[in-house]
Amino acid sequence: PASVGIVAMEVYFPACCVKQEELEEHDGASKGKYTIGLGQDCLAFCTDLEDVISMSLTVVQSLLEKYCIAPERIGRLEVGSETVIDKSKAIKTCLMQLFEECGNGDIEGVDSTNACYGGTAALQNSLNWIESTAWDGRFALVVAADSAVYAEGAARPTGGAGAVAMLIGPDAPLVMERSFSATHMAHVYDFYKPDLASEYPVVDGKLSQTCYLQALDLCYRRYCAKFEKRQGKPFMLSEADYVVFHAPYNKLVQKSYARLVYNDFVRNPSFVEEDVSAKLQPFATLSPADSLVNRDLEKVAQQVAKKQYDSKVVPSTLLPKELGNMYCASLYAGLATLLHTKTEALHGKRVLMFSYGSGLASSLFSFQVHQGQPPFSVSEIVQKMSISEKLNTRIIVDPKAFVTTMHLMEMRYGAKDFVPVSSHSTLRPGTFYLTEVDALYRRRYSRK
Ligand code: ACO
Repeated sequence: PASVGIVAMEVYFPACCVKQEELEEHDGASKGKYTIGLGQDCLAFCTDLEDVISMSLTVVQSLLEKYCIAPERIGRLEVGSETVIDKSKAIKTCLMQLFEECGNGDIEGVDSTNACYGGTAALQNSLNWIESTAWDGRFALVVAADSAVYAEGAARPTGGAGAVAMLIGPDAPLVMERSFSATHMAHVYDFYKPDLASEYPVVDGKLSQTCYLQALDLCYRRYCAKFEKRQGKPFMLSEADYVVFHAPYNKLVQKSYARLVYNDFVRNPSFVEEDVSAKLQPFATLSPADSLVNRDLEKVAQQVAKKQYDSKVVPSTLLPKELGNMYCASLYAGLATLLHTKTEALHGKRVLMFSYGSGLASSLFSFQVHQGQPPFSVSEIVQKMSISEKLNTRIIVDPKAFVTTMHLMEMRYGAKDFVPVSSHSTLRPGTFYLTEVDALYRRRYSRK
């Protein structure tokens, strides 16, 4: 099959959110710490009516309906998530409820888990299937979904929630350039979830930032090497029109783009503009390890990268800033935002994507944007995702109510024999929600 990639997308996020400005004040943090320091505007969260399964049900059903895809046309369904509701039963198996009526049980794939990387693993598996001799001509469907919650403290404002569904097939408007894909994986304890009784991770915030940026360096070097080998010319940032990053919070995304500019400079000063090169010169001889912790370099690199950051990265930042870290869904919500912001202007452009999951697993890969055929064109995807409408129908909850919900969710995590108590008025029409967890922990859902 030719031009394999993402043919359609849908985004879902819970309607409830808390404003970072208000959370900052409530937490007693200094003014501007969450909004400027972390670069975040709002944080979306699930009440006890919603969870990673209901968000996945909602986003999949919505995609199938909006693009009129009969469920029997799906031959593979993969979920990337790190939100653990069950240690054995895949979220994918819960989604099979949507395929029961038409009798389609012939769907490969289960869940992929490694922090925020699962969605990328799911995407790779789906592309592999379509490019293999096992492919039977049907679409693959990838779901990246998470509810990101942290214990009270410094990490809490970097939570979020959301789900993205992506239909994978040939003749796509977003064609993956697979031969350049670069990966870095390693063993570190920067963020992990060893306490099976709690939904919260154990996180070493500073270490996770360094691991993220170091993985970006390594993936970028490998991507550049592969590009040069195949294309016979060096890769530099001018070859990428847009760059989308996994977004734990926006400040790290700003630092990441600056880091790529610094990488270009170190590889060859002529890869960056003369004035940029002059400003980075004092940092030319730093070792890679020292450069990762040098605060002056971090500041100068962000300054010199600012103009390019505004044109190449900002167009993908709306949803991650408005919803917070959606873990597996974060990178793909960034891609959805880019489509939403640039639409027709994306035709013929290259989009670079950086996926990072603590622990760690990371990849840098790229898409070429093609015209596509309706309903699988960028402009139809944008219209169907209706991101502005979804953002405009959110419900702003005050920080106290948010904290109360977090306490309720702590009680509910791993619990049985209950019915949710939150008000259905927080659900948009078409949203799946939890109706009960019975004495045998079996979860039941309904649709509004
Ligand atoms: N006005 C403006 N900026 C401020 C203010 C203020 N009043 N107060 C602080 N800041 C700035 C700081 O200078 C800092 O910016 P800098 O990094 O550019 O110097 C930023 O706000 C954050 O302040 P810190 O003191 O570094 O924040 P803290 O240590 O309290 O927490 C952290 C930040 C580590 C990101 C925490 O939220 C966390 O652990 N989050 C989860 C881990 C994470 O997301 N890691 C990313 C990769 S792994 C993943 O995706 C899960």
